[in-house]
Amino acid sequence: MVAKLFADHEPESGDRILFPGIGSNAPFIHAVKRWCDKHDAPMPEAVAVELDPVRIDDVEENLEDVDVDVQERDFLESSIPRDLGEFDYIIGNPPYVPVTQLNDGEKEQYGEEFDTAWRRFDLYILFFERGLELLADNGRLVYVTPEKFEYISSGDALRELLTNYHVQEINHIDQDWFPDLKVYPAITVIDATESDRTHIVTRTNEERTVSLPTDGSSWAAPIRGGIDIEDTGVTLSDITVRISAGLATGRDSLFVSDKDDVAPQLIEEGWAYPTVSGKQLRTHDCPYTDDLILCPYDERGNLVSENELGAYGDWAEIHRETLEERSCVQKRNRPWYDWHNAPPMPEMLRPKIVCKDVAKEPEFWGEPEGTVIPRHSVYYIVPKSHIELDNLLTYLNSEEAKKWIEANAQKAYTDHVRIQSEMIEDLPIPKEFAETMQTSLV
Ligand SMILES: C[S@@+](CC[C@H](N)C(=O)[O-])C[C@H]1O[C@@H](n2cnc3c(N)ncnc32)[C@H](O)[C@@H]1O
Repeated sequence: MVAKLFADHEPESGDRILFPGIGSNAPFIHAVKRWCDKHDAPMPEAVAVELDPVRIDDVEENLEDVDVDVQERDFLESSIPRDLGEFDYIIGNPPYVPVTQLNDGEKEQYGEEFDTAWRRFDLYILFFERGLELLADNGRLVYVTPEKFEYISSGDALRELLTNYHVQEINHIDQDWFPDLKVYPAITVIDATESDRTHIVTRTNEERTVSLPTDGSSWAAPIRGGIDIEDTGVTLSDITVRISAGLATGRDSLFVSDKDDVAPQLIEEGWAYPTVSGKQLRTHDCPYTDDLILCPYDERGNLVSENELGAYGDWAEIHRETLEERSCVQKRNRPWYDWHNAPPMPEMLRPKIVCKDVAKEPEFWGEPEGTVIPRHSVYYIVPKSHIELDNLLTYLNSEEAKKWIEANAQKAYTDHVRIQSEMIEDLPIPKEFAETMQTSLV
């Protein structure tokens, strides 16, 4: 990282360097000092910022031979730019703290002060914004962070901000760098100049130079070597009525059983529907299983009232205590016999396409009968009525669609892709579907 920091511009006397969040053994300060000694370059005037007083004590013991102004303060505090001034070099490993771990006061304060404090942001995203604010003209910033800012929707504002800079390089490094953390790390090199050419190094050591989108949209496709699906201007969302995760009951072990174990009255009175889980899609290689799920909704999607529950009511009464323990009842005041969330029955019980929500590689199955209730680990895609299910299925399982999904999906740990509606609804759709759509509109 230090070699990248000084690659195009060796430190000169009068240059300034900033170390945000230096940690207890100040690895970057030592590495910069070593680099300067080795290259016979002057150590730039150094400022380090660290919030944690215990780490500061350790650092000070650790830094006897380096001249650094170590400041115990919050790097995200609004007075920092005024107090610290500008820097020619900034290098660090910012804290990775998701918004869910911040208190309401912090969320509000960051929301007011940072353009990038957007949706489910993370402190490392704010460290980028603050660092860029402190970067002198022609300065360079090098951070190691999770790679997620490249493609998550909460990274939109940061990606937009970065269009005013030159993202010179993104180097995707091995997960083993942080053995205790479940992150895919990347080293990002940013110059305070303008250029749209970015050198990418992938985790498999492929290298290429790309232009990143300038409208804040995901960088996943150019970074991962996205494919060229002919741009017809039509996406999956244009030819579908619904794309969503399947349903959660809050206690599948109760609601779901083999059809032979379900009381005949429950089946006769229509409370039981075929169902499938993500795992079963793979093991059965189709959405049709022997499992039934008990459902207190009518086919229009209305929750049946308690006095009309019939055999379902008798079944639920036996399990009342367990049903009442579920968080949807305790915390969200849902009726005790209800599911975790309401199923959109009319849209869901239609011919559809299903896939696992997290998979090593995306794979889709048809559910042409339109009878199966997909469970939470299944994603379902309901095409508009004029779209041929089989054609769409063939396209979704094609190499080109697969590559697009792999390039655009968020990654789940251990190299799986996560199917999410906000990603898959943007899947470009080939001409033949676009033409069908035009015909149907006419
Ligand atoms: C991921 S650690 C990196 C430590 C060190 N740079 C390294 O690579 O080992 C992030 C550091 O930032 C510090 N930190 C967290 N929030 C901070 C803030 N708001 N201002 C300054 N430092 C902060 C933490 O105490 C921690 O030392």
